[in-house]
Amino acid sequence: MDELTKQYFIDVFGSLPRCGPGSVETTRRAYSCLKDVPANPKILDIGVGIGISTIELAKISKGTIFAIDIIPEYLKRLKEKMDDEDVQNITTLLMSMDDITFPEDTFDIIWSEGSVFIIGIERGLKNWKDFLKSGGYLAFSDMIWFNRNAPRALKEYIDTEYEGLPKMLDNGQILNLIKKHGYKLVAYFKLDEKRDWWDNFYIPLEKSIPYFRNKYKDNKKYLDMLELNVKEIENFRKYSDFYGYMFYILQKK
Ligand SMILES: C[S@@+](CC[C@H](N)C(=O)[O-])C[C@H]1O[C@@H](n2cnc3c(N)ncnc32)[C@H](O)[C@@H]1O
Repeated sequence: MDELTKQYFIDVFGSLPRCGPGSVETTRRAYSCLKDVPANPKILDIGVGIGISTIELAKISKGTIFAIDIIPEYLKRLKEKMDDEDVQNITTLLMSMDDITFPEDTFDIIWSEGSVFIIGIERGLKNWKDFLKSGGYLAFSDMIWFNRNAPRALKEYIDTEYEGLPKMLDNGQILNLIKKHGYKLVAYFKLDEKRDWWDNFYIPLEKSIPYFRNKYKDNKKYLDMLELNVKEIENFRKYSDFYGYMFYILQKK
């Protein structure tokens, strides 16, 4: 990610309650699927953004959490939130998800909400497995196709959004990859459209658009990125039967 894009993300998404679809209820539901985890599990949380789900994870797991992201400003905001809420069991680290420098077999749990698309589910499943202990859990949420017979306008939009990234998959493809890479599927569920997408993400994003349109009126690159976000919201309003977010909870065999 280049520096200008990073700055855009800090500006626009750093001002929202969270940087992608989700909720504390969804984090709790996914965590409740993990069975027999140690009393103080060691957890790697990948692509934490400003860390709303990381804070929740720290509270419910009572574990030791290593929170990684490549945007220092997001990690700074997470630290501020930790102070505000007196949460101490999180260590923030500037580290990329495709260059994790922990020893193998370190973690009881690897967590990733809305971030694995950056390297793609297959690379995530393959590369992150080494850092999990045997029997450890990998829990991630990602956007997927529910129905590939989508209108052309939506397919074109998704292609634009995923330009330079691995392609968006469907549930069947993901289940095959889970098997291929030696995980047991523990559970999977769809994120709640109203709460996780609209109330927590798109409505706050939509409200901020006029402010950023004005702020970026002389910056074509940022204006174009903003209009892509506007289109993203419009598409979800029209086409959410065709795609959405799923949470997958897996166990390393
Ligand atoms: C859609 S946001 C999700 C953030 C957060 N988990 C949430 O649910 O609100 C994706 C996050 O991945 C981070 N990210 C992007 N590339 C990354 C990389 N190579 N390694 C680690 N994090 C990365 C971004 O900075 C951003 O915080």
